[in-house]
Amino acid sequence: MNFPTNQVYPVIWHEDHVLLIDQNRLPNEYTLVEISCCADMAEAIKTMIVRGAPAIGVAAAYGMYLGAREIPTDNREEFLSQLELVAEQLRKTRPTAVNLFWAIARMLKAAKQTLGSVEYLREVLLKTALEINADDLQTCKAIGDRGLEVLPSQPEKLHLLTHCNAGALATAGYGTALGVVRSAWTAGRLARLYADETRPRLQGARLTSWECVQEGIPVTLITDNMAAHCMQRGLIDAVVVGADRIAANGDTANKIGTYSLALVAQAHNVPFFVAAPLSTIDFAIADGSQIPIEERHPSEVYQIGETIICPPGVEFYNPAFDVTPAALIAAIITEHGAVAPAELQKFQPKQVI
Ligand code: MRU
Repeated sequence: MNFPTNQVYPVIWHEDHVLLIDQNRLPNEYTLVEISCCADMAEAIKTMIVRGAPAIGVAAAYGMYLGAREIPTDNREEFLSQLELVAEQLRKTRPTAVNLFWAIARMLKAAKQTLGSVEYLREVLLKTALEINADDLQTCKAIGDRGLEVLPSQPEKLHLLTHCNAGALATAGYGTALGVVRSAWTAGRLARLYADETRPRLQGARLTSWECVQEGIPVTLITDNMAAHCMQRGLIDAVVVGADRIAANGDTANKIGTYSLALVAQAHNVPFFVAAPLSTIDFAIADGSQIPIEERHPSEVYQIGETIICPPGVEFYNPAFDVTPAALIAAIITEHGAVAPAELQKFQPKQVI
């Protein structure tokens, strides 16, 4: 095993293709997958080689460029109409993380607003994807710093708990929830991170704890059903999680198990924070009941590794996300500051008529 010790970047533009860290193979193998066409990018998103809402957005932006490169025409109208098909292919990969749809919309807008040859449109698409990538990195750093402003002031060194992986691997780098953890660590305000293992795909065990170990951040791995006990024992000062889509009223979709964690946190007076970029807020939907929830293959529930863990004849339900009601969230930490869910409206972009 040859792990890098420096920063983790899950999506990298390299020469004329994309390199993805294969997140399905971590922590046992650090492998880069080369992606040179749109179909492969769509498959990588679907199969979760790349995952985490902002990282999916960055990957989809590059997917749009790779798709644009494959369109065999020099006619602008024909190009734009085929680019819609590329967008549709990418939109079908995963339904919950709104960053996917946001990044695709931004790429389509860039193409439509650009005058000039098809070759020039392609150049603009690559430039836009690179911008989305670079912006996300800056955004995550800002989220980390803004998060520091709202963490409890006591005790001086905090014990934080997170769920799933909202770290460098889930973004362009640095992370949202784990960005707050990183900033707390750098500022000397973190005693320890507790990481939920996050059944069924174990992003907490496999990815969050891997990221922490890379950087020497003290991390304690617990199974999902241990969080209430830890809070009852006073081991947790605050919870920080990421988000896949936040409705206009602050209801937040995130990895399955986030909602129960928020309920447990409320029962123990532990503040529960959501850290996410503004691109994760979907102002088009009023509340969480309208957020589409992805259902994944039942094998994620009935199987761990090669082992089947239940008898034949059982039925399965495998929602990948749940919705935490805004009332359970102390603050939503964005790159422009932390707000109570009720104040989210102040970030709504002005309508241009
Ligand atoms: O199914 P995944 O692994 O893509 O789910 C990821 C999460 O739920 C993250 O918490 C969320 O995308 C925020 S990532 C900064």
